[in-house]
Amino acid sequence: MSENSKTAQGTTAAIILNGVTKAFVVESQRVEALRGVDLRIERGSCVSITGRSGAGKSTLLHIIGTLDRPSEGIVSIGGIDVSRMSDQATSKFRNRKLGFIFQSSNLLPEFSALENVMMPGIIASVRGNAARERAAYLLNSVGLRDRASHRPAELSGGEQQRVAIARALFMEPEVLLADEPTGNLDKGTSLAIQDLLMELAAVHKTTMILVTHDQMLAGRMPSQVIMEDGRVLSATGVIQ
Ligand SMILES: Nc1ncnc2c1ncn2[C@@H]1O[C@H](COP(=O)(O)OP(=O)(O)OP(=O)(O)O)[C@@H](O)[C@H]1O
Ligand SMILES: [Mg+2]
Repeated sequence: MSENSKTAQGTTAAIILNGVTKAFVVESQRVEALRGVDLRIERGSCVSITGRSGAGKSTLLHIIGTLDRPSEGIVSIGGIDVSRMSDQATSKFRNRKLGFIFQSSNLLPEFSALENVMMPGIIASVRGNAARERAAYLLNSVGLRDRASHRPAELSGGEQQRVAIARALFMEPEVLLADEPTGNLDKGTSLAIQDLLMELAAVHKTTMILVTHDQMLAGRMPSQVIMEDGRVLSATGVIQ
């Protein structure tokens, strides 16, 4: 592990970004979505990312989540430089270490809630019975024990999102990445999902990064990052 991933107190940072840029070129038009992001997020912290539409929030989350690579710069997660891993190693790393929740739950429509939650385990070759048991436990912890055999179309939006949260937690990820997870929900359901996410992150000691337009949700997170025009405008509770 490199020296700069340790703080003065010796604790290890979960995520370090150094000089991260991302440029997209569409039909010879160049968009600089990220223009040099430096961030250091400690293990177990909960961070919100806010900012105007187009500020680069989702791009940043995708790069931290190894769904996309930076144009320049370094992304280190748990001491591993993920920006330089092979595609195969990256897929495995993503499956083992990271959990994702998006605005729409992205559940597989042909599978039950239980099977959807098990899916990361199946990909990681977890035995069927063990996977089933863990999925049932997680569904129970998000309050959906009696919806295990429902398919996504037979669940409400909030219930689908809770299934997605259970699925994201299946592999006990070190880092949970959420992009507007309550964007499609009414206020009451949104609050319940927020509580659940924060509680589960605390119980599982997961580092959580949450992109949101909801100022109230952002304000509930101990660490807050505001982005503007591809840069970090301000960061509280994290080191920039
Ligand atoms: N795949 C892509 N190809 C080209 N340009 C892209 C791509 N993805 C994002 N962009 C551009 O990069 C900029 C940042 O996009 P991003 O999706 O990160 O914004 P955001 O902060 O998440 O916005 P929103 O709040 O609307 O979701 C935008 O100008 C967008 O048009
Ligand atoms: Mg976005």
